[in-house]
Amino acid sequence: MKKFPQNFLWGAATSSHQVEGRNIHNDWWLAEQDHSLKVASGEACRHYELYAQDFAIACQLNHNCHRFSIEWSRIEPLEGKFDTSEIEHYRQVIADLKIHQIEPIVTLHHFTNPVWFAQAGGWTKSDLQKYFLRFVDKIVTEFAGQVKFWITINEPLVYSSHSYLLGAWPPQECSLFKTAKVTLNMARAHIKAYQIIHKIYQERSLGKPMVSIAANLQAFEICTPTLKNKLALYLRHKLYNFYFIEELLRKNTLDYIGINYYGRNLIDARSWKIRSLLMDTCCYNHHPLRKNSLGWDIYPQGLYKLLIALKKYNLPILITENGICTENDDLRWDYIREHLEEMNKAMEQGAKMIGYIYWSLIDNFEWDKGFDPRFGLVYVDYQTQKRTVKTSAGKLAEVIRNGQI
Ligand code: BGC
Repeated sequence: MKKFPQNFLWGAATSSHQVEGRNIHNDWWLAEQDHSLKVASGEACRHYELYAQDFAIACQLNHNCHRFSIEWSRIEPLEGKFDTSEIEHYRQVIADLKIHQIEPIVTLHHFTNPVWFAQAGGWTKSDLQKYFLRFVDKIVTEFAGQVKFWITINEPLVYSSHSYLLGAWPPQECSLFKTAKVTLNMARAHIKAYQIIHKIYQERSLGKPMVSIAANLQAFEICTPTLKNKLALYLRHKLYNFYFIEELLRKNTLDYIGINYYGRNLIDARSWKIRSLLMDTCCYNHHPLRKNSLGWDIYPQGLYKLLIALKKYNLPILITENGICTENDDLRWDYIREHLEEMNKAMEQGAKMIGYIYWSLIDNFEWDKGFDPRFGLVYVDYQTQKRTVKTSAGKLAEVIRNGQI
């Protein structure tokens, strides 16, 4: 049996656009309406109305924390016009979590932007950051008394690459220059947001907040030990996994490291071109592993390796997402169990873990992939919005109750 500390954070995550439904003021909704995206989020899981029911389930499952995002486009549907009824909505959401003794972990940006912000150039324009910072100031001023854990930006590199390099997400562009610009602007925005949040807590003599990002980390492995692949491995590990974190650490703006981990990226660089070195993956299923329903490689050992690599920063680490989309709930449980075991092994070797958050509490809208991939601990029937707890969720609940696996 492997033990976990008593005050360990255990929970699951969601994000506003993926679960709430009818987020009509953001750039995703707009792209969904003009059919530049194949699937529309529509009502999603109607979590906007059903959150209390969903949190009651999280509570039954012994979760003591819950990660969710506050939808900027609801709070500020038009530039400078803040909707107080939406602020009240999220006040209720946080209050409901507190009733269940569930610690709120609040994300301030999870891939979506208000339409007015996106149409003015969004994250490509450095002078528009001030709008995000004003939103941060507003929300943190409202909720500082109730919230300790903040995540400023979810997966900045995934956002910049999917939206500006791969052309997959709004605004569906393919520009290396813009990708770099957006990444840089997000790093700067985090640094300033961090300072704003800390200032608010200081002025109100609240205890110190815990502020971070949710960084997407991958286990990079090489298909064959060629020189090209070795260089690609070095570059990807440095650029994708650690560059952003190290930028923020240089400015002392991380109180903990939030990481999202899903699996392995098997490198097979086909040429010396920078695009190949940074992007090519093995397409022959060499070194096969079990896969999720989107074909991503399941690789729990990768989590262990990354946690050990993060030790050098000497900061608390929170797994802000780890999860699997699958129709096979036995596989989901194997995935969770094996990742918890690897995390525990890293803890025994000194990784300062403070919690584990599964993605996701409920099945939801998986961005450009639509509703087919099911990541949830809880099954959602999208016709009736009925929730059904999966067996894997019950098994995780047991681990949490016993504090051991
Ligand atoms: C994102 C989630 C997404 C999940 C599964 C993470 O990259 O933060 O929004 O649903 O991965 O793809």
